[in-house]
Amino acid sequence: MTQQKCINCGSRYSLDEIVYFCRKCGDLLEVEYDFTEAREDLEKSDWKRRPLSVWRYKELMPIKRSSAIVSLSEGGTGLHSCKRLGEHLGIRELYVKNEGENPTGSFKDRGMTVGVTKAVEYGVKTVICASTGNTSASLAAYAARAGLKCVVLIPSGKIAYGKLAQALIYGAKVIQVRGNFDQALEIVIKLSERVGGIYLLNSINPFRIEGQKSLGYEMSEQLDNARIDRVFVPVGNAGNISAIWKGFIEFHRLGLIEALPKMTGIQSEGAAPIAHTIKSHNAQISPVAKPETIATAIRIGAPVSWKKAMSAIIDSHGTAETVSDEEILDAQRLLARLEGLFVEPASASSIAGLKKLVENGEVDRNERVVCVATGHGLKDPDIAVKMSEKPIEVDADVEVIERAIGVEMPIEISVHGGRR
Ligand code: F0G
Repeated sequence: MTQQKCINCGSRYSLDEIVYFCRKCGDLLEVEYDFTEAREDLEKSDWKRRPLSVWRYKELMPIKRSSAIVSLSEGGTGLHSCKRLGEHLGIRELYVKNEGENPTGSFKDRGMTVGVTKAVEYGVKTVICASTGNTSASLAAYAARAGLKCVVLIPSGKIAYGKLAQALIYGAKVIQVRGNFDQALEIVIKLSERVGGIYLLNSINPFRIEGQKSLGYEMSEQLDNARIDRVFVPVGNAGNISAIWKGFIEFHRLGLIEALPKMTGIQSEGAAPIAHTIKSHNAQISPVAKPETIATAIRIGAPVSWKKAMSAIIDSHGTAETVSDEEILDAQRLLARLEGLFVEPASASSIAGLKKLVENGEVDRNERVVCVATGHGLKDPDIAVKMSEKPIEVDADVEVIERAIGVEMPIEISVHGGRR
């Protein structure tokens, strides 16, 4: 039987119960499957013939009725072999999983399709989240699709413009909080516990993690279930790295993959409580009171899923690393120029982290590496424009423009197409 289970004391709760934290010890919950049952369900199904997507793995998702599914066609994103970037960084086999290809432009859609489907199953009318931007954009879209009321709390002035535009146009009630993400999250947790009927869809919600675990399934399948040595993931509130690891663990338990990758979490220097905890071999996290980074998506000082993320990193023999804002922006530019992939700054932190770990010898050039690029570059166009060379402005004149391009024209072509 599929159940919700406390990650600390093991208390179990039915899938029918709305419960965010364990009622006995207050810790986070996760969804637990009976793998004998799951294996049988998969064998009876046609899952291998379904397109690559979150719902390809329906039998491994905690929902009751397929008819309740709220979908915008999420998942099935490209796993791009990045030869030029790999060569530049000194890695023989590098892939980038481009989550910007999801319907609202980030990996959050994988979690929201499942989370909002559960909201529909529970019959709630209002959904809520705190967000650095992408979660709010995604929840707003899925709530619109399902006809639910949506409330999002965002840190005032600290979310990228594209994400704000999304939340607004999808019709969410957008509340800007004079404070940071961590404070906004505390408030929505209190609100959803106090006010019945408001369903919380931050990543403490175990059903969101279920959707996001499909990232691990997909990467495995896209590489024919062959060994992946290492996966780099940008870490903010720490749900995604935990989810991807759960995906790998489950595929392993189902006998679909033999080896497990080392999970490597990357945080921005100014918001790196998990990386600091891993590096100092502590068991307990020390939150960062005033997180700061240009990568606003991961500007988080008290990651709520830190325990799950620590287990993912430690159990997989992975590691965590910090990168500076400058390293993040360099990586963003490199990925765009060498591979044609435009990702937002937080997403580029996985590439920046790989670069750092190759340089300091922690990653071997023969490893098969996947970097997860979590969100699309157009989410945050202001930074890209600010960090790039300004376009030159000229009169509408061919000769002036020819001089501006600054190249010798190899063959002179007449306006009529023939040679002069
Ligand atoms: N990358 C991007 C683009 C994100 O938006 C986030 C999180 C992360 C990485 C980190 O993922 O929190 O699971 O560790 N954004 C959240 C939001 C917090 O509100 O959109 P995580």
